[in-house]
Amino acid sequence: MDSIIVRGGNPLSGRIPIAGAKNTCLKLMCAALLTDEPLTLTNVPLLSDVATLALLLQSLGCEIACMQDGRAMVLSASEIVDRKAHYDIVRKLRASFNVLGPLVGRYGEAEVSLPGGCAIGARKVDLHLTALEKMGAAICLKDGYVHANAPNGLRGAEIEFPAVSVGATENAMCAATLAKGTTVLRNAAREPDTKALADCLIGMGARIMGAGTSTITIEGVERLNGTTHRVIPDRIELGTYMIAAGVAGGEVELLDGRRGLVEALSSSMERAGVEITETEHGLKVRRDEARVRPVNVRTEPFPGFPTDLQAQMMALMCIADGTSTLEETIFENRFMHAPELIRMGARIDVHGGRATVTGVERLKGAPVMATDLRASISLILAGLAAEGKTVVSRVYHLDRGYEHVEEKLGSLGAKIERVSDK
Ligand code: EPZ
Repeated sequence: MDSIIVRGGNPLSGRIPIAGAKNTCLKLMCAALLTDEPLTLTNVPLLSDVATLALLLQSLGCEIACMQDGRAMVLSASEIVDRKAHYDIVRKLRASFNVLGPLVGRYGEAEVSLPGGCAIGARKVDLHLTALEKMGAAICLKDGYVHANAPNGLRGAEIEFPAVSVGATENAMCAATLAKGTTVLRNAAREPDTKALADCLIGMGARIMGAGTSTITIEGVERLNGTTHRVIPDRIELGTYMIAAGVAGGEVELLDGRRGLVEALSSSMERAGVEITETEHGLKVRRDEARVRPVNVRTEPFPGFPTDLQAQMMALMCIADGTSTLEETIFENRFMHAPELIRMGARIDVHGGRATVTGVERLKGAPVMATDLRASISLILAGLAAEGKTVVSRVYHLDRGYEHVEEKLGSLGAKIERVSDK
């Protein structure tokens, strides 16, 4: 397994491109199952999660042609030969569960492995299943698989989600595009990823109103057609590199970044003393020698502070000039980066869903271990400001969600390298 070595102390400067959004791209790929015509995606990120989902879709019979060194792909689901998404892939990539809605919507049947939990939480799927049942699917769980059947097709329904779920909103929205009648999703996710999925479905001929708000209305149509859709910039990658500049100091420009994707983070960072400016090509982020100020953060569904940036923000608060609190309200176990940051000299107290961080002048480099995608990157960010060498192991987590992280940070002046443990 590879490790990444960071030697702290260098401020960052320069400009890097922000790639297409992982969590948008994965759902757009699932949406290809809704039509027998080709769906072309551009600005596709080069991530292992995208490759894993491509394997699953191909196992169902979807043909995938990659172009532009993998940054564009054409998905053709004209010959779906299998409607079973197997455990060995779904357990590695939870987003695979989002083939359920498209398969049931188009074919009236699907067999998809329950994804199981992961490091950050139980990751239940009850909201997905209840929504499909309300649309007329018969759901049964057997041997760890969800069997969904709607032999006469799905019908429109009024669905009120008891809690906001990005995945459940997206599964239900996809299924509803081909249902008979109108479906209304209330307390729906408002994430840019979900809005982008709706925009792509509309380009395929779906009739969707209200995406991006908490009430989404979908009028079912007979069939969908192909289209070409550009994946939006990855707001979590964008936020991660904004925080990197806050941690290391200096000035960077993040190309294709838009403040509207990271408004909650931007206002938190400005309160911490980091300058954020929109430029013609993206976002410029600047932090001078003064220490960052402490700010309190509470994760919430969009447009609130994203849970996927909580670990990175904690790394920044570790060197703030005062005490901050970070409340995690989305996942039940998302502070696993805290003990590793403590190994680097951070002062963090975790009680349930709240972490209290007392900032220190300097962190100290140390060998640390990554446990999940966002925890991994927070350790690398902490290493940028730490004295000495930080070795982050198990970085395969990183490659799931960040393109060439050592190249991007290295091009901004960070002293960072990837070493193979082989
Ligand atoms: C998506 O996960 C993202 N993944 C996550 O990003 C992100 O953290 C999350 O949304 C929240 O923004 C992808 O899009 C592939 P949820 P998802 O359904 O859809 C509970 C990353 O690092 N819940 O909004 O699985 C659930 O357990 C990943 O890129 C139920 O209880 O998230 C969680 O506590 C991590 N029942 C909360 O709701 C359900 O049926 C939010 O989950 C569904 C969810």
